Amino acid sequence: MTVWIEGATGKAGRRVVEALTKAGVPVRAASRHPGEANGLVTPVKFDWYDESTWTTALGDADAVFLKGLDSNDKAATIITRFLEAAPSVTRVVLMSAVGVDKAPEDAPRRAVERAVQEAGKTWTILRPSWFLQNFDEDEWVFARALRERNELYAGTGKSKVGFTDTRDLAEAAAKVLTEKGHEGRGYTITGPEQLTFTEMAELLAETSGRPIHHVDATPEEHRAHFAKSGRPEAWVNHMLHLFKQVRAGVFSPITEDFEHLTGKRPRTPKAYAEENWQPTTQS
Ligand SMILES: NC(=O)c1ccc[n+]([C@@H]2O[C@H](COP(=O)([O-])OP(=O)(O)OC[C@H]3O[C@@H](n4cnc5c(N)ncnc54)[C@H](OP(=O)(O)O)[C@@H]3O)[C@@H](O)[C@H]2O)c1
Repeated sequence: MTVWIEGATGKAGRRVVEALTKAGVPVRAASRHPGEANGLVTPVKFDWYDESTWTTALGDADAVFLKGLDSNDKAATIITRFLEAAPSVTRVVLMSAVGVDKAPEDAPRRAVERAVQEAGKTWTILRPSWFLQNFDEDEWVFARALRERNELYAGTGKSKVGFTDTRDLAEAAAKVLTEKGHEGRGYTITGPEQLTFTEMAELLAETSGRPIHHVDATPEEHRAHFAKSGRPEAWVNHMLHLFKQVRAGVFSPITEDFEHLTGKRPRTPKAYAEENWQPTTQS
């Protein structure tokens, strides 16, 4: 088999590339800025907004890992067209998010799940919680404010989140892409414990020795903060919606799906912090 991976240079996608190639599976690593070919990895140029890139990028892939266009109201329609243009693809694994299956029918991410389920291919949906890697790898979600001001800038109140390490998500993805028995199923991939953002800030502070603290910003403050990113308004609205969902407890659940899939315990926030927030590794 050959697996085509969307967002292959991103926080989750590049770990899916690693997990699959470790299992000996050739991958086509799709992004707008592909790097150099290496072993089982063929980087391919792909842009959701340039349909002329789609077929060439897919090549001989018979399975795809989709992350599915964040913050685009038309994502479901685009994905339906993409899967129609991929007759040789028989298996689709979608990375959705915790709670999307319970979102209103007309919510864009719910429509993306439906588009995958109704594409006439074998499907599996993975629903991770918030990624731990947002803290050090996602410049505008959290990393910049943490680096520049020691602020964990998150209007999340006292709600808890079952943070997911993207390496666990990737291992789960490699399993369901390469094994039988996961067809037509959804798995909620969370970490082993729930933390508030205040507790997460305390953990990062303790590990790094820096005065990191949680800033429980209001939606208005958040909007002003994200406006400085230069990202599209649709992205800002999407982020504000996600913080609202955190406050409502949508990302609180903890499940054992990762352990059932892989036989391993999910990585803890503490382990992530110890690997990535030592005093010498963060400036
Ligand atoms: N972050 C979280 O906490 C979290 C939690 C649960 C679920 N999720 C889901 O995970 C997804 C985000 O994954 P991620 O955090 O791994 O992403 P990411 O780190 O933001 O990476 C984005 C990837 O998409 C590529 N990309 C950007 N624009 C593109 C375009 N127009 N066409 C094709 N590729 C494009 C980027 O590469 P180029 O720039 O080179 O194109 C990059 O490889 C979301 O859909 C979200 O629902 C995220």
